[in-house]
Amino acid sequence: MEVKTSNANLLQWTGDGLAIGFFEGKLELIGDLENLNDKLAGAIQEIITEEKFEAKINSIIFTRLIGGSQVRKIIVVGLGKAEDFNLESLRTAAASIIRVAKKQKCKSLAISLPICNNLAETAKTITESVELAVYEDNRFKSEPENEKNTIETVDLIGLVGQEEAINLAHQICSGVILARELVAAPANEVTPITMAETAQKLATEYNLHLEVLEHGECENLGMGAFLGVAKASDIPPKFIHLTYQPQGIPRRKLAIIGKGLTFDSGGLNIKSASSSIEIMKIDMAGAGATFGAAKAIGQIKPDVEVHFISAVTENMISGCAMHPGDILKASNGKTIEVNNTDAEGRLTLADALVFADKLGVDAIVDLATLTGACIVALGNNIAGMFTPNDELAKQLDIAGYKAGEKLWRMPMENKYFEGLKSSIADMKNSGPSAGSSITASLFLQQFIKNTPAWAHLDIAGPVWTDKESGVNNVGATGFGVQLLVNWVMS
Ligand code: BES
Ligand code: MG
Ligand code: ZN
Repeated sequence: MEVKTSNANLLQWTGDGLAIGFFEGKLELIGDLENLNDKLAGAIQEIITEEKFEAKINSIIFTRLIGGSQVRKIIVVGLGKAEDFNLESLRTAAASIIRVAKKQKCKSLAISLPICNNLAETAKTITESVELAVYEDNRFKSEPENEKNTIETVDLIGLVGQEEAINLAHQICSGVILARELVAAPANEVTPITMAETAQKLATEYNLHLEVLEHGECENLGMGAFLGVAKASDIPPKFIHLTYQPQGIPRRKLAIIGKGLTFDSGGLNIKSASSSIEIMKIDMAGAGATFGAAKAIGQIKPDVEVHFISAVTENMISGCAMHPGDILKASNGKTIEVNNTDAEGRLTLADALVFADKLGVDAIVDLATLTGACIVALGNNIAGMFTPNDELAKQLDIAGYKAGEKLWRMPMENKYFEGLKSSIADMKNSGPSAGSSITASLFLQQFIKNTPAWAHLDIAGPVWTDKESGVNNVGATGFGVQLLVNWVMS
């Protein structure tokens, strides 16, 4: 499928599906619309009246035109009130258009929606929504259940000159789709070894520098926290570090870290069915977003140096599993009493944060499916943002808003660190269940020393969806990639 601009206006365009957006209370057909309606023998007015269409947000209707007319189907989409119009309305509208056009077997589709903010943002947002809503994952079906997507071309009307924005959106989407595919693939497909192979492919294809630290090298660096988690797995852990280096002097230097548990059984504090053990293939979604961002950044080539890091392993059980109560030493020398082997993400992140903290970057952002408590607090559409740095919080907020990936800043209440006090080691890895997303973030903070700005995003909720919503179909959402790319480029 290709998204492109079209020189044709509403009156000139010919093809299978023509989608037109309307604001609530502004349904009169004037100008080009009036002429088009006349040309189509009043079909647009007829369907609006017949269906009592009010253009409320999320509403969509369509009709088949008689044979021989310039378009086969007219799709009329509601945008809500003009004064509430924003990028989110644009996304919702574009995604619903795609769902209808797919069902209606359109091959060629044209989209005419109003401008939001400016031409470039409009073109980027529509293109992203189209590409993400159209995507479906049929890799593991011997015969695809859903009929194949028929859409071949999507023409954006009124956006001539925005080819660069469309291309940017396309590059970002290729990263989102990589993240979706990594997260949706089960733990017998995506392992620490295949993650290192994927990193190798990215490095080759996009000219990134790749460093993969094997078990022995991690040991030499003193990564006892990461290796403690890896102990029970038959698959060797991989510490993956991809670097994008721009030509010339970088405007800034950043590090992105993703939690990379290709499966989280909980370890000896094993998860039960009620804590969704069967979905724990998603526990590498932070790494998935990190790799997705690397794929996009490798194509976009901004003037910013970016490090993409993940300490990848599984959290399993075996005779050599870490025991509840074990004491581990992280690479900054801090000792950790593992009072819960299911709080493993923060152990792997601890060594990844220490590693990133030594790179001399201006800021570090980590993304992790870290706590069930964050899902309880914010639900499935919003990620928790934890940072002591107001400026970074602001940057990420804007990046998330522009991406349609919502963040909500959470408090880093220092007093709660008491919950992690250990009588035998420097700290425990888990505290009381009340406020456990907050104690998790305070734990991570212990591993940052030199870097001026750090933020932790708890993405446990939004990386997966059980129902179709907005640009997401059921399954992995690829959450984080768009916001990371926006942030790097800001
Ligand atoms: N991977 C889980 C968190 C998670 C839960 C992700 C649900 C996605 C969906 C994490 O490793 C975990 O087990 N967290 C524990 C921490 C607790 C033991 C302190 C949790 O949230 O229950
Ligand atoms: Mg766990
Ligand atoms: Zn986990």
